[in-house]
Amino acid sequence: MSKKKHFETEAIRIQSETTQFSEHSAPLYLTSGFVFEDAEEMRASFAEEKQRDLYSRYSNPSVNEFVDKVCAMEGAEAGFAFASGMAAVFSTFATLLDAGDHVVSCSSVFGATHGLFTKYFPKWNIECSYFNINAIETVESLIQPNTKFIYAETPTNPGVDVLDLEYLSAICKKHDLLLVIDNCFATPYLQNPIKHGADLVIHSATKLMDGQGRVLGGITVGSKELIREIYLFSRLTGPAMSPFNAWVLSKSLETLAVRVEKHCDNALKLASYLEAHPKVKWVKYPFLKSHPKYEVAKKQMRLGGSIVAFEVEGGIEGGRNFFDNIKMCSLSANLGDTRTIVTHPASTTHAKVEPEVKAAVGITDGTVRCSLGLEHIDDIIADIEQALNTI
Ligand SMILES: Cc1ncc(COP(=O)(O)O)c(C=O)c1O
Repeated sequence: MSKKKHFETEAIRIQSETTQFSEHSAPLYLTSGFVFEDAEEMRASFAEEKQRDLYSRYSNPSVNEFVDKVCAMEGAEAGFAFASGMAAVFSTFATLLDAGDHVVSCSSVFGATHGLFTKYFPKWNIECSYFNINAIETVESLIQPNTKFIYAETPTNPGVDVLDLEYLSAICKKHDLLLVIDNCFATPYLQNPIKHGADLVIHSATKLMDGQGRVLGGITVGSKELIREIYLFSRLTGPAMSPFNAWVLSKSLETLAVRVEKHCDNALKLASYLEAHPKVKWVKYPFLKSHPKYEVAKKQMRLGGSIVAFEVEGGIEGGRNFFDNIKMCSLSANLGDTRTIVTHPASTTHAKVEPEVKAAVGITDGTVRCSLGLEHIDDIIADIEQALNTI
């Protein structure tokens, strides 16, 4: 058996089979369907006696290449790729959950995921209990006989809180529950939840996997058995990733390691700068010693990630001044781009989250989420500094 190669090598060298044209860069298989030799091949393929692509709602060579790369990066047996991160979240949940089930989730989840738990799942009689991200030891007390899985993001959006994956996995094993992790903020380069005991790992590929703000995508990876169930649900319901997006994303994965290294380097430099700034009330970044879960972050992450959260002085007015005076960084709700982005979670991504939930996860009116890009750090700091000086 050939030895498993390094992360960067797998990201570049895993490729769909070369065609008769001997192309170096993998081609884009922009096709919705595939043809069969004869009736018997068609029958055998649909009966799954023969492994091959049938229809791009089920699978496609460009999508398969992207899935194979992410599986290698995450140490997973199998995966299914989706049109967006939310399609991955919803399809994974819908596959695993039956009416009457219960989920225990970390209190700080992406706004749309919170919307699923609060707006849509109750109508299918599925309940969710949130555990306090600052008191992970309370998670066990929320488990009920009908609990199916524990769900968590780490680092969380937008507060970059860090949850101990080994602790959550031990609780899941004890109660025979699945552990499902949204690993979007870390990327597979920084953190591999399966190695810490997670059963399924979800990504919004829209973020650092693309890294250039071009396409939407999502993926769930895990054991063959679980992914088979997710595949069966998805081939019926149609949330599949488009071959074009898969091709773009697969190319982007080739540079994920070098890009993420630089994003993290910029993020640590900005976080350290902000810690000493008089107009900044607090700064959170997983690899700052002042982060409450610094030791956990060091244990499970290679570097601290590309996101820095901080609060400016002056409440709403201070926040408004800050955002209105930003000159170079982008005011946008996305993250994980070459361009540095500053976001105001309270009025954008988390605007529909109830005030008491926002307060419980530390999203204040003045909280700024900064997604560090790949511009020169001196230019990023200069822009943020001049905006802070207007407060
Ligand atoms: C942590 C996390 N999970 C899931 C999503 C959803 O991903 P998408 O926008 O690709 O649907 C996002 C989007 O910002 C996110 O930040």
